[in-house]
Amino acid sequence: MFVRVLGAAAGGGFPQWNCRCTGCTRARAGDPAVKPRTQASLAVSADARRWVLLNASPDLPAQLRAAPALNPDISGPARNSPVHAVVISGGDIDCIAGLLSLREGHPFTLYADPFVQKIIDNNEVFSVLNRDFVRCAPLSAQGETELRDAQNQPLGLWVEAFPVPGKIPLYQEAGKDAANLVNDQAVIGLSLRAASGRKVFFIPGCARVTDSIRHLVSGGNVLFFDGTLWADDEMITAGMGTKTGARMGHISVCGQDGSIAAFAQTPLARKIFIHINNTNPILCDDSQEAAFVRAAGWEIAFDGMEVTV
Ligand code: MLT
Ligand code: MN
Ligand code: ZN
Repeated sequence: MFVRVLGAAAGGGFPQWNCRCTGCTRARAGDPAVKPRTQASLAVSADARRWVLLNASPDLPAQLRAAPALNPDISGPARNSPVHAVVISGGDIDCIAGLLSLREGHPFTLYADPFVQKIIDNNEVFSVLNRDFVRCAPLSAQGETELRDAQNQPLGLWVEAFPVPGKIPLYQEAGKDAANLVNDQAVIGLSLRAASGRKVFFIPGCARVTDSIRHLVSGGNVLFFDGTLWADDEMITAGMGTKTGARMGHISVCGQDGSIAAFAQTPLARKIFIHINNTNPILCDDSQEAAFVRAAGWEIAFDGMEVTV
């Protein structure tokens, strides 16, 4: 299986348009130790020819332009794209807004669970996805779904969707108190399997690592996991906001309740942080925190990172 990181940053991207934190300022200045990153998404393929997107971020057009394998075949028909399916892991803007850029009459299959399908069906702006071309297919809640293109041809990959602790999207929060933000249907993790049996897990948003998540990913080849925040209160400490990671539905990287500790005993060939917020110091290659993460056996995703599984 071939994986390309289309974007490694959390919602807002890096640098974020309105942020002057240390990382954003260094990234904006072109500091080679602080690479800019777009919003989180992966492209996966069984044959490096026909690709499946995991989430469609608002940065999708630029992400595709930057990836030679994801551009139209110049010897193909006048309009063509190697993108044949999109699988969505949640209703957040950074997971779905890029769908609006896939509105140009290209056939693909859109895989979503009922929570996300309802958001898409209930927002008329998404009707730009012409259903004569775009086939909506459910993600099975039990077991694997074989990924197929809009003509129902198999793509050589199987996906399993599993529930992950999380909350409803930001735009649904208005008028709800904290207790009503948590929703066990709102966020899923994705397991991608090739015919060889090799597996890649994509969990860009996760509030808490449960035993069942640990059990599911155990023995996998690559885990891409929520690296939003280094510390739960980092946005407050930096004067960049009022929310903790817990309030945003994101576990932090460090500490005894963090993700490094949570997966310390879980056998995985590679562990890679993705969906990294602009305030997280691991985005600066020369930070102590980045060194700590690497020493703990984790990698830090960047745009254009390629992983062959
Ligand atoms: C998140 O992951 O918490 C969201 O992307 C927040 C947002 O929509 O900006
Ligand atoms: Mn997000
Ligand atoms: Zn910033």
